[in-house]
Amino acid sequence: MHTVLVTGAAGFIGSHSVEWLLARGCRVVGVDTLRTGRLENLAVARASPHFAWVQADAGDEAAMRALFECYRFDGVLHLAALVSVPESFREPALNYRLNLANADCIARLCLECGCKRLVFASSAAVYGAAATLPNHELALPQPQSPYAAAKLAAETMLLGYAASYGLEAVCLRYFNIYGPRQDPASPYSGVLSIFTDRFRQGLPVTVYGDGEQSRDFVAVQDVARANGLALLEAAMPSGCYNVCTGRAVSLNQVLAIYRELYPAAPATRYDEVRVGDIRHSLGDPAALRAALGYSAQISFEMGLRELALAGDARK
Ligand SMILES: NC(=O)c1ccc[n+]([C@@H]2O[C@H](COP(=O)([O-])OP(=O)(O)OC[C@H]3O[C@@H](n4cnc5c(N)ncnc54)[C@H](O)[C@@H]3O)[C@@H](O)[C@H]2O)c1
Repeated sequence: MHTVLVTGAAGFIGSHSVEWLLARGCRVVGVDTLRTGRLENLAVARASPHFAWVQADAGDEAAMRALFECYRFDGVLHLAALVSVPESFREPALNYRLNLANADCIARLCLECGCKRLVFASSAAVYGAAATLPNHELALPQPQSPYAAAKLAAETMLLGYAASYGLEAVCLRYFNIYGPRQDPASPYSGVLSIFTDRFRQGLPVTVYGDGEQSRDFVAVQDVARANGLALLEAAMPSGCYNVCTGRAVSLNQVLAIYRELYPAAPATRYDEVRVGDIRHSLGDPAALRAALGYSAQISFEMGLRELALAGDARK
């Protein structure tokens, strides 16, 4: 049985990843401070005898060393982070600690305690407003926020440890992730959780710009599978990999699906483009496909309908 550590386990992506790993027969230790995560997200996981919950800071080296020594992890999925780009502007020192220093702490503990595989949650934000789409892993990164800079620096450091000490470091650059348990109140929250929340309440949504801006939306269940395979697949080479679909969906296309689901919804408001908003974001999924045989399986139309229906069921 594989024993793995998941940091940020009580978060949006973390809780889905924990469930995927448990379903695959792993023993999972989930660590979280509950800074932005919620214990309710782990309700399914906590019912499993193979899950251990630890409320702790992933940057608390002594506490983490005790866990590494106790469980002798086969792999670590490091998701814990400061996830809000605006907060990273307001709190650069906290961003440095949570998004860079903590990744270093976890990587050094992996080396010290013989844990070979570290999967790190990076972000498509490292690309910035890249001129050529789709974004390919070999493109020159152009981080435009403290958040993106810290993610890129963490990737560089982990790959440096891979080259220097043989750590198996897999950095996954997530594109726009959506799905159940994403907090619509969070400033970082994806547009889809905000839209779903407002359509359900019969409130109008606001689109900044003409609605033709597009994103590469990935369902969180597909991301959980990418995380799990990257942890468990023995032959996975160290490196950076996009987690994306390779398909661009415009906000107007998104709105058309909501209109079918909520025909009585009030008209959409269109407002000025917000400064700093990227017009198009699209990833090239080829590298992860080549390394893992992975491609996203949940179509956007199906994923969005499921999200809306799950929201309705929670009312
Ligand atoms: N959601 C997206 O679209 C997206 C896109 C790109 C990258 N990411 C990255 O994916 C990861 C998970 O993000 P998410 O969307 O699930 O956000 P989330 O806020 O739901 O999850 C992050 C979790 O980390 C926990 N945490 C924060 N600091 C911690 C610490 N020091 N020790 C232990 N736990 C701590 C939080 O309480 C939270 O549960 C993050 O690294 C984020 O940067 C997410």
